[in-house]
Amino acid sequence: MKLIAPSVLSADFSKIQSEIQMITEAGADMLHLDVMDGHFVPNITFGPKMVESIRRHTKLNLDVHLMISEPEKYIEQFAKAGADWISVHFEACIHLNRVVNQIKDYGVKAGVVINPATSVSVLQEIIGVADYILLMSVNPGFGGQKFISSSPEKAVKLAEMIKNKNADTFIEMDGGIDVENIKLISDSGVNVFVAGNSIFGSKDPKETISKMKKLIS
Ligand code: DX5
Ligand code: ZN
Repeated sequence: MKLIAPSVLSADFSKIQSEIQMITEAGADMLHLDVMDGHFVPNITFGPKMVESIRRHTKLNLDVHLMISEPEKYIEQFAKAGADWISVHFEACIHLNRVVNQIKDYGVKAGVVINPATSVSVLQEIIGVADYILLMSVNPGFGGQKFISSSPEKAVKLAEMIKNKNADTFIEMDGGIDVENIKLISDSGVNVFVAGNSIFGSKDPKETISKMKKLIS
């Protein structure tokens, strides 16, 4: 399975309905929604109300990436707002197993995210419990940052760990992905590709998505 998930962080929020429609028609497989609280990361974006609004304008799955402290307090609100996938940071959860199960209890796919400086080895016990692992390939907080080149090696290691556990966990990567590096990232075992700036910032997002799809097929 290979999916392109444009990150709405790079969209124009003042015309969110037409942006969602445009990116849906451009061939997005899923929409990635970045929730930031100004505490876990040095930036603030939006909350469940925005997810609910976006839900009304697309049938695509909504992949909600929670870059917030104490995410367990907000899972219910995001699930009820229409999230199909919800991911929480390893670095933000004291009781990670509990939070992952809390997400799954709402019938939502549960993901665990690790920052660039966190080793994949911390994921050993959560593989097979979480539905997907999101590897950050930039430090979370902002769109348009440079891809950290050691990220594909982490995906290779993680894919090996997943295989050894006979699990069917997906691997997602987020940050600095573009048409230049997506093939290498795909070859490292990544299934879901989040891209903000390289899609929304391109002259022709439809053409960019179809180029990306060719490169990973
Ligand atoms: C960064 C966010 C990303 C961001 C990716 O903290 O988690 O999802 O939108 O944007 P680009 O593709 O521009 O690096
Ligand atoms: Zn993200």
